[in-house]
Amino acid sequence: MRSHYCGDLRKEHIGEDITLCGWVHRRRDHGGVIFLDVRDREGLAQVVFDPDREESFALADSCRNEFVVEIKGTVRSRPEGTINPEMPTGEIEVLGKELVILNKSETPPFQLDEHQNVGEDVRLRNRYIDLRRPEMQEKLRFRSKVTNAIRNYLDDNGFLDIETPILNRATPEGARDYLVPSRVHEGQFFALPQSPQLFKQLLMVSGFDRYYQVAKCFRDEDLRADRQPEFTQIDIETSFMDEEGIMGLTENMIRKLFLELKGVDLGDFPRMPYSEAMQRYGSDKPDLRFPMELIDVADLMAEIEFKVFAGPANDPKCRVTALKVPGGAKLTRKNIDDYTKYVSIYGAKGLAWIKVNEIENGVNGLQSPIIKFLGDEVTMAIMDRLGAENGDIVFFGADKAKIVSEALGALRIKVGEDLEMSEREWAPLWVVDFPMFEETDAGLTALHHPFTAPSCSPEDLKANPLEALSRAYDMVLNGCELGGGSVRIHDQEMQATVLEILGISDEEADDKFGFLLNALQYGAPPHGGLAFGLDRLIMLMTGTESIREVIAFPKTQSASCMMTEAPGEVSAAQLRELNIKLRKTP
Ligand code: AMO
Ligand code: AMP
Repeated sequence: MRSHYCGDLRKEHIGEDITLCGWVHRRRDHGGVIFLDVRDREGLAQVVFDPDREESFALADSCRNEFVVEIKGTVRSRPEGTINPEMPTGEIEVLGKELVILNKSETPPFQLDEHQNVGEDVRLRNRYIDLRRPEMQEKLRFRSKVTNAIRNYLDDNGFLDIETPILNRATPEGARDYLVPSRVHEGQFFALPQSPQLFKQLLMVSGFDRYYQVAKCFRDEDLRADRQPEFTQIDIETSFMDEEGIMGLTENMIRKLFLELKGVDLGDFPRMPYSEAMQRYGSDKPDLRFPMELIDVADLMAEIEFKVFAGPANDPKCRVTALKVPGGAKLTRKNIDDYTKYVSIYGAKGLAWIKVNEIENGVNGLQSPIIKFLGDEVTMAIMDRLGAENGDIVFFGADKAKIVSEALGALRIKVGEDLEMSEREWAPLWVVDFPMFEETDAGLTALHHPFTAPSCSPEDLKANPLEALSRAYDMVLNGCELGGGSVRIHDQEMQATVLEILGISDEEADDKFGFLLNALQYGAPPHGGLAFGLDRLIMLMTGTESIREVIAFPKTQSASCMMTEAPGEVSAAQLRELNIKLRKTP
């Protein structure tokens, strides 16, 4: 129907007869002349209807916002003084000659140019209208460009796009599974994939050498701004490549993507061992845009009377650390109370602080509720270690190491954002040398997943599981875990050892992933890979706060779709067919 997109019209089209198709973005009546701003995915064009073409004029007059129209007309330059430099099509307008109303529209639930005041629930309930907004169109187009560029890069590097099944047995990635009941196999369930992990490893056993997939993954876990129950991975696996090769190839992909689509050179990504990241930044995904670091002071506090600090200072499972915030002395009591509340989310029982006003006057130049507990000597030794300067505030955390790292690690970012301390726009890095296992209440669990290769022998692993490091790596950008992967175990004995350490019995292992264990016995090549969170990548590249903004039809924080109202109840007949009986919850 159309000859041109509205948003593509330019000066060089002046004089041409054209046909536009799109939506009435706005109708204005200017004393006898009707202006329709017509919108399509490329942008807006202004169409003018004069009263001397009676029929089309009357139709234009009857148009309302969001009517769908087809317009034939002639492109002309805008009269002197009406050129709009803000609009890409602002130098021209279309003299409308014929107008067909292809469809009418009810008054939309919100105006498309006033979305700022519209709640996210209204936007999500009416997503098909929300997605008409130019900025939403822009984000999804950008997303399409990114996947396209990634596909081209991987294709150029010999990767094959192979699909893996959605109806599966459970793959352990650490979250809860979404289950699908089987009608044919009474009482049995499929699990939706948390990732294609096991299948991609099997494809390596099959000799495909280089695999990728833009893969939907499903995880029933607590949702946050950067998590969805259903999300997309760029999933990658290769054979005969070690971690250097895999990290090099994928780092290059992300660098190229930023260069081509954003004109940003990310440079070489630094590498940081997990232990250093926890030590210096209290996080396994440190945000290196902010310069502040955590500095441990347990040794200086070991002898003091004050139990809040001396207790953890003498307990090897605990940590006593300080965060020095330059310029933070200006924070008010209220700010400090708010930060104390903030760290309590992470389990911190308090947030001690010292303001540095006049360090040249020793402890007399400091202001704090805890100096009296620390004593002058310890206080000044701490100031010395931190290199404290006038205008600083120092925060302290003392508790179990995990709590302190998480609490002060999060505080570091919060304060950094509040005081606008970011030193650069982009801070990528690799976090490497993760431990193989971590200790939880339920015993040892795999930090990455149970198919990750350790960097030691099965004997050493068994002897000292908590000391063992894995061959895993995470790519982190601006404090967000963009992707993670590892070199895998390709040796059956090693795989059996890991499962044994995890307390997974032979029967359970056989039942859950016997197919993988079998496959490892038939010439499995050394292999490894990585998966990127595509939604997170787009979120970062488009500078949005939530991954919901870069997904066409996202779910809410409570894992439902406001538009379709999924999940929903099913009929009694469907349940009967599946042999499912619902238990009434009181
Ligand atoms: P992992 O569990 O680290 O690794 O996931 C890889 C990447 O996927 C993204 N991601 C998510 N994005 C949005 N919502 C979620 N709920 C969500 N969960 C994860 C993150 C993360 O870095 N099979 C392994 C990969 C491998 O070893 O090759 C895996 O799934 O950006
Ligand atoms: P209290 O003696 O409990 O009133 O604590 C004195 C100061 O130490 C207050 O500023 C508390 O916020 C702080 N504080 C208490 N517990 C901790 C902790 N575990 N880590 C850091 N600071 C704490």
